[in-house]
Amino acid sequence: MSTSSPLPQLIGHRGARGLAPENTLLALDVGIAAGCPWLEFDVQLHPSGQLFLLHDLTLDRTTNGQGLASECGWPALRALDAGQGQQLPTLDEALDLIEDRAQINIELKTWDGTAAAVAECLRTRLAEGAAPTQYLVSSFHLPELYEFKQRLPEVPVAVLLCGVPLDWAACATELQAVALNQSAEFVDARLVADAKARGLAVNVYTVNDVDEYRRLAAMGVDAVFTDVPDRLRRL
Ligand code: G3P
Ligand code: MG
Repeated sequence: MSTSSPLPQLIGHRGARGLAPENTLLALDVGIAAGCPWLEFDVQLHPSGQLFLLHDLTLDRTTNGQGLASECGWPALRALDAGQGQQLPTLDEALDLIEDRAQINIELKTWDGTAAAVAECLRTRLAEGAAPTQYLVSSFHLPELYEFKQRLPEVPVAVLLCGVPLDWAACATELQAVALNQSAEFVDARLVADAKARGLAVNVYTVNDVDEYRRLAAMGVDAVFTDVPDRLRRL
């Protein structure tokens, strides 16, 4: 299949999880080295008040720990191996590592204070001179995303979907989002058209297959989240 459509931008998924342990500083560095203009990672709020990178609510799959991350003390959590000797990074460590080398999609994985804590962290970065558009904050938890937008309106947000809402992309307009971050399982052309008509970018996760990448390009998708930016970049 060939297409003359522009190829969607690459967003390194959980850093670049096909190339290094996900959501670690190593994965972020490797994602940048692989040429990703954007990096995505997942952020949780620990009961200690610390923001840290982790996808699952439990530690079992990606670390040598067990059980809920929220039930693991902060020093013990920081002592875990997240793969190849990597620690679970804090949000500040991730932002310090990336600096302005890539744009950053922060996905809020937890709620009950996560939006407020991330807004405070980014407010500090903006005061230090970072551009609001370096960041894109997203979540499946739309009330948490709404709270973030209320607290720090200058930072763009994206609605995360894993399905097709009855009123199509209307929730993104309601949240004053700039993008719809949609699962590859539910890229309905009518949803894409509605998002575009509302002025939204459409970003699709997770795309590791070259043919799928080309198909999405032909549909007018703006960016894809990928575990393997090196593979898609070869196009
Ligand atoms: O943000 C895009 C994608 O990361 C959402 O799904 O489960 O990989 O966090 P998940
Ligand atoms: Mg994610």
